[in-house]
Amino acid sequence: KLELTLAIIKPHAIKNPIALSYIRNVLRNKFVVVKTKRVSLDKESASKFYEEHVGKFFYNRLITFMASGAIDLHVIAHCNAIELWRRILGPTSVYKGQFKEPNCLRSIFGLSDTRNVAHGSDSLESAAREIKFFFPDFSFYKWHNDD
Ligand code: CMP
Repeated sequence: KLELTLAIIKPHAIKNPIALSYIRNVLRNKFVVVKTKRVSLDKESASKFYEEHVGKFFYNRLITFMASGAIDLHVIAHCNAIELWRRILGPTSVYKGQFKEPNCLRSIFGLSDTRNVAHGSDSLESAAREIKFFFPDFSFYKWHNDD
C-alpha cells in the first residue's frame, strides 16, 4: 500500500556533511521525496512534537538536543514507507543496532540513543499527525487522489 511517512534528520547529522549527503542519497534512491523543509525548532515546539515522551528519563535531553540546531524534514512516499524507512534507520538504540544491524543508518552515523541520526513515524496515525505538524497545508486527500 502506498504510504507517506515523515523523516527527520537530526541536528548532529545536519552538521556532518558526510552523514547528510549519505542520508539524502538513501532518501532519493529509495523513496519519492514529496516535500522537504529545513527548520530550527525552539524547545516549545520540540516539546509539542515529542509530547508522547513527557516524563521519560531521556525527555529533557531529547528536547534540548532537537532544539540545538537545524533539522531537515522530508515527507517521503513508498509502498509500506513507514516500515521501510524504520528498517533503513535501524533500532532506536544505537548501541544495540551496532551490535545487531551494523549497516543501518543509526548504526553507521548514530552517536548515542538520543543522537540517533534521524526519526521516522511509527504508524499511519503518527505519520499523519507529524506531517500535519510540520506541513499544516499538506493535503493527504489531494496527494492520494490527484493524477
Ligand atoms: P525518535 O525516533 O526521534 O523518537 C523518540 C526519540 O527519543 C528517539 O528517536 C531518541 O532520539 C530518543 N530516545 C528514545 N529512547 C531513548 C533512550 N533510551 N535514551 C535516550 N534517548 C532516547
